[in-house]
Amino acid sequence: MRSKLVAGNWKMHGSRAAISELLSELIKALPSEPKLDMAVFPPAVFAAQTVEALRGSALAVGLQNICDQGGEGAFTGEVSAEMAVDIGCRYVMIGHSERRALYGESNEQVADKLARAIEARLLPIVCVGESESERDEGRTLEVVSAQLAPLLARFSLEELSSLVVAYEPVWAIGTGKTASPAQAQEVHAFIRGVFAERDADFAQRLRILYGGSVKAANAAELFSQTDIDGGLVGGASLNAQEFSAICRAAE
Ligand code: G3P
Repeated sequence: MRSKLVAGNWKMHGSRAAISELLSELIKALPSEPKLDMAVFPPAVFAAQTVEALRGSALAVGLQNICDQGGEGAFTGEVSAEMAVDIGCRYVMIGHSERRALYGESNEQVADKLARAIEARLLPIVCVGESESERDEGRTLEVVSAQLAPLLARFSLEELSSLVVAYEPVWAIGTGKTASPAQAQEVHAFIRGVFAERDADFAQRLRILYGGSVKAANAAELFSQTDIDGGLVGGASLNAQEFSAICRAAE
């Protein structure tokens, strides 16, 4: 009942020229009538260029981050959810572990950003996941639960109706160390269970993506797990053939 979603997080990579080349390769490589949803997340300055190049294609565009304040205002360096919508973005990623670890984003700020995304009708992908030491200490589920709690406390299920959750174990990001399908499935099932405590139907509709060293070689096995509804792909999304193979693995 849940359609799969594969999203490419380009992080702080690219230039006008490199992105233009990647986009034309993606348009050629990706399925034209896909049986899944697909999106890419370029650096914000290249988002408008990306939207224009992908007009009419099945590939949607999102921002990697938005301001926790909406509309316009004196917030130097920030981009609002409304600005993302204005240039044609459909998605936004919120609370990526790099934003949490490097820029001090708290669970509460993540919830504020989610509020802005919901108001602007952007489709939010909220990222959660434990560090290597948290996993070693057996605290994975506790950490993920604490990351989800402010969202469940603050928003109604109606407000969360377009929410996508991405489980990205920090130790698997950019390391080549993918979580095993069983490790990922365990946490995905736990996340679905957390939402099921509020509403079983909502939990069944919720899409939960896996992120962390996803590549063409491991995508099919990960995506075949019961509670894995697609992937959030970093490094491998910068290669059109690889990203396309990952998308096809989700069909
Ligand atoms: O958001 C995607 C991500 O953090 C995973 O990155 O390079 O391990 O696929 P990567």
